[in-house]
Amino acid sequence: MTDPHSSWESCEERIRAAKTADELDVIEQELFGRKAGAMTLALQSLHETAPDERKKAAAELNTWKRTFEDLLAARRKELASPSNETLRTSDRIDVTLELPQRERGHLHLIPEFIREVEEVFGRMGFDSATGPEIETEEFNFNLLNIPRDHPARDMQDTFWLAANNPADRLLLRTQTSPMQIRYMQSHKPPLRVIAPGKVYRKDSDATHSPMFHQFEGLMIGEDVTLANMKAVMITAIRALVSPAAEFRFRTGFFPFVEPGLEVDMRWQGDDAASREGKWLEVVGCGMVHPNVLRNCGIDPKKYQGFAFGFGVERMIMIKHQIPDLRAFFQGDLRFLRQF
Ligand code: PHE
Repeated sequence: MTDPHSSWESCEERIRAAKTADELDVIEQELFGRKAGAMTLALQSLHETAPDERKKAAAELNTWKRTFEDLLAARRKELASPSNETLRTSDRIDVTLELPQRERGHLHLIPEFIREVEEVFGRMGFDSATGPEIETEEFNFNLLNIPRDHPARDMQDTFWLAANNPADRLLLRTQTSPMQIRYMQSHKPPLRVIAPGKVYRKDSDATHSPMFHQFEGLMIGEDVTLANMKAVMITAIRALVSPAAEFRFRTGFFPFVEPGLEVDMRWQGDDAASREGKWLEVVGCGMVHPNVLRNCGIDPKKYQGFAFGFGVERMIMIKHQIPDLRAFFQGDLRFLRQF
């Protein structure tokens, strides 16, 4: 060994500069190889050193030995973790990249339609409110001028909840009309509100589902008339279904309005052969009955107004020519992705 210092230093340089784990293995072998490693040999040759120098030489060698061991371990670790360069090129995730179209979710067509409803009525100055799906008999029927023995109760086949006390029975609301009562009890006229949500009836076929959606509408003021009602409803139907939508008003009976009307819309129907289409009832409406106003503490001599209840699924069926209402709830992606 001519100049051990300079050769140790050059080993140190090589370790720091090594580019691969293999290179490190080679250097390690050159230093610590059992037979010919430079450090192995140097340590073995210590006993040939004169005793007075041996201690100092041993200390120096051990310092180098530890330096190399530490350096080798540190460099191995560096090489094993990805460099900034690798990260920039091969391991890159660009979070701003667009997902393929098919991976992207969207709202189901019912909540999407309800958002449009809120927007269209919002432009006409209507607030939006929601209420409970589990209702009391009082709100769903009694305060709406439908007492217990009233035949109109049979029109809506009700899901009753088991109750201990028959005097305050609970039910799944059969209509969004109880929201008329709730809103009038908590707001003073003049008022304009819509109330979208789920309703429940024992019914199931191509145009009925045991759970479906309605949105209630209510406008009360000092001089609100039937003409106002027709204007609001025609505007809404044209905006929500189609500017060319065909509809007709005819008289209908609901205990909480007087007079009462129903609106039918032309529908392709479930019978493809009948190109004519048929009429499908989508709305009940009318002027709010004086008894209902009184039940909410509103003086019917001073205030009047109208109420309506739209069937959401039926409007969407007409808008998109969907033949069977049950498709809304089957979760078939081939159906849902079309909208
Ligand atoms: N609640 C009625 C129904 O579900 C619809 C309706 C609402 C009728 C408001 C008149 C006024 O059939």
